[in-house]
Amino acid sequence: MNVQPVLPRPKTAAGRYLICITGASGAMYGIRAMQALIEKQREVHAVVSEWGERVVAEETGKPFSAWAAESAIPKNRIYDCRDLAAPPASGSFLLDAVIIVPCSMNSAGAMASGLCQNLIQRAALVCLKEARPLIVVPRESPLSLIDLRNLTALAEAGAAILPASPAFYHKPKTIDDMVDFVVGKILDRLYVEHELFRRWEG
Ligand SMILES: Cc1cc2nc3c(=O)[nH]c(=O)nc-3n(C[C@H](O)[C@H](O)[C@H](O)COP(=O)(O)O)c2cc1C
Repeated sequence: MNVQPVLPRPKTAAGRYLICITGASGAMYGIRAMQALIEKQREVHAVVSEWGERVVAEETGKPFSAWAAESAIPKNRIYDCRDLAAPPASGSFLLDAVIIVPCSMNSAGAMASGLCQNLIQRAALVCLKEARPLIVVPRESPLSLIDLRNLTALAEAGAAILPASPAFYHKPKTIDDMVDFVVGKILDRLYVEHELFRRWEG
């Protein structure tokens, strides 16, 4: 198996991240990740797939545009997923990481096959070719052999596969606590300090 070595983290964009929300369940993971990075004064850009928009509205009762307005993301940092000419479509646009959260099996399959049919898939594949961190937060259950192979292909190409699987050892009391656990794991992977969950101390 050809797993790429972990490269030293390049200093690319001084805290600029792209949050990509696809049409998997768990839209709140993506919204909360966006909020948590903004709270930490990071420069957050965002893109939501067509089905991501649908699931955000279904699961949270609000369109993504309302969440973005509440989070005070400048409008020019929210991209149309169909726009393959938007800045994150180019490797010359520096990003510290792309985070696909939640990631549908459709998007995972497209990326694993090297398809760039929308801005999310393109930004992810740019990240891999530029050896920048790509975090994929898959949400599906059960996983078919095809899903597992696609996720394996992404991991072999250098992506971090960080399943949306909250833990219970920190004794979550609310759904927000469970969401924050997964978001905290994303921030850990980005080396961003946070207080989103209580760490295990034995
Ligand atoms: C309410 C709802 C929940 C969904 N949940 C999931 C899911 O958890 N995982 C998944 O892979 N697809 C899920 N889907 C299906 C995807 O939205 C569908 O495959 C879509 O093509 C994904 O497109 P995208 O990858 O461009 O966002 C869900 C769809 C709906 C309407």
